[in-house]
Amino acid sequence: MASLKKLLFDLFFDHQDLFQALFVMEKEIDLALFPLEIQPFLSANILQKINQKIKSNFRISKVNNVFIVTDFPTYFGSDRVWYLLEDESLFFAKNIPDCTDKKALDIGTGSGVLAIMASLQGAKHVTAIDISPRAIAFGTFNASLNNCNNITFKAEGLENHEPNSAYDFITLNPPFVPMPSTTKYMLSGKGGMDGLGLIHAFFNQIDALTHPETRINIISMSPGDAYISALEKLFIDRCIGKAMKIQSTDLYGTTAPIEVIFQPFKKMSLTTWKKWLKTKNYTHMHYLFIQTSPSESYEYSRKALFPKLEDLPDSGTWRAMYKVIQNSKDHAS
Ligand SMILES: C[S@@+](CC[C@H](N)C(=O)[O-])C[C@H]1O[C@@H](n2cnc3c(N)ncnc32)[C@H](O)[C@@H]1O
Repeated sequence: MASLKKLLFDLFFDHQDLFQALFVMEKEIDLALFPLEIQPFLSANILQKINQKIKSNFRISKVNNVFIVTDFPTYFGSDRVWYLLEDESLFFAKNIPDCTDKKALDIGTGSGVLAIMASLQGAKHVTAIDISPRAIAFGTFNASLNNCNNITFKAEGLENHEPNSAYDFITLNPPFVPMPSTTKYMLSGKGGMDGLGLIHAFFNQIDALTHPETRINIISMSPGDAYISALEKLFIDRCIGKAMKIQSTDLYGTTAPIEVIFQPFKKMSLTTWKKWLKTKNYTHMHYLFIQTSPSESYEYSRKALFPKLEDLPDSGTWRAMYKVIQNSKDHAS
């Protein structure tokens, strides 16, 4: 029997339209039109047969030579395994640096995509943690699909993670949607009042997780003022005066007024939340990719990506992103 990965390559390169229809657009197609051996897809529960039709149970994305299985955006359980977007996980995954001989940690691993990329970039070992057991099941499946056998997946929250020693490289794509504390929402999105909940937990534990040379890569929305975000300030406070370089990349090349975060929740009373944000002087939202690395001196730089990622077809502009969030929220349990 051909391996699932080989079949996915064949489908991706020789039958692009079919790959898109099944694994991106969630279409049902006639079984008779499927050109490859079907049993490996059925055995892995990737495809299901309904009479003489087939349908995928999951979304599949390709990044470099890696296939990543996730939930579809139409899966509305609170444990949705986050799918890969051009302006988020795919961008992050394509920017994983050389990790040769590094001991890596991927926090909030979801589908495992960043852990898998770190492993393929030469990491000696990767620890991948997620509070959601569903994510860990997907991560484990994806690592095996892509023949990565040096990743240890653990179903645990960062708050309970006890490292044996500090890591050399850390990736974090946290749930970063800011929202009132009482809102029920998906684990992959709920970011606390400022959207930085998991990032604050990370900074609380940073001494145990890092050593002076540790490289950290984080992607996140963050509130701030018109010029700088709370997320960047956390890194500046941490690194200033040390031989560390902070590179901040503005993915959309622009900020949005803070009001954008209220839109999905406008049916709720937001008084407490709005008051709290005001006490922090937050007026704008930023969307950033932050990379820190050892350097000869302290350096901080900020660049705006051009072309902006929000111009790509599979991206969320601020408005589109909040429409997606609104839809998810309407269906969240
Ligand atoms: C936006 S998703 C990112 C998934 C994946 N890393 C990626 O880039 O596609 C955030 C992930 O963080 C996980 N998460 C939420 N709270 C967590 C916590 N306290 N500790 C560890 N993981 C957490 C969620 O379950 C979710 O899988």
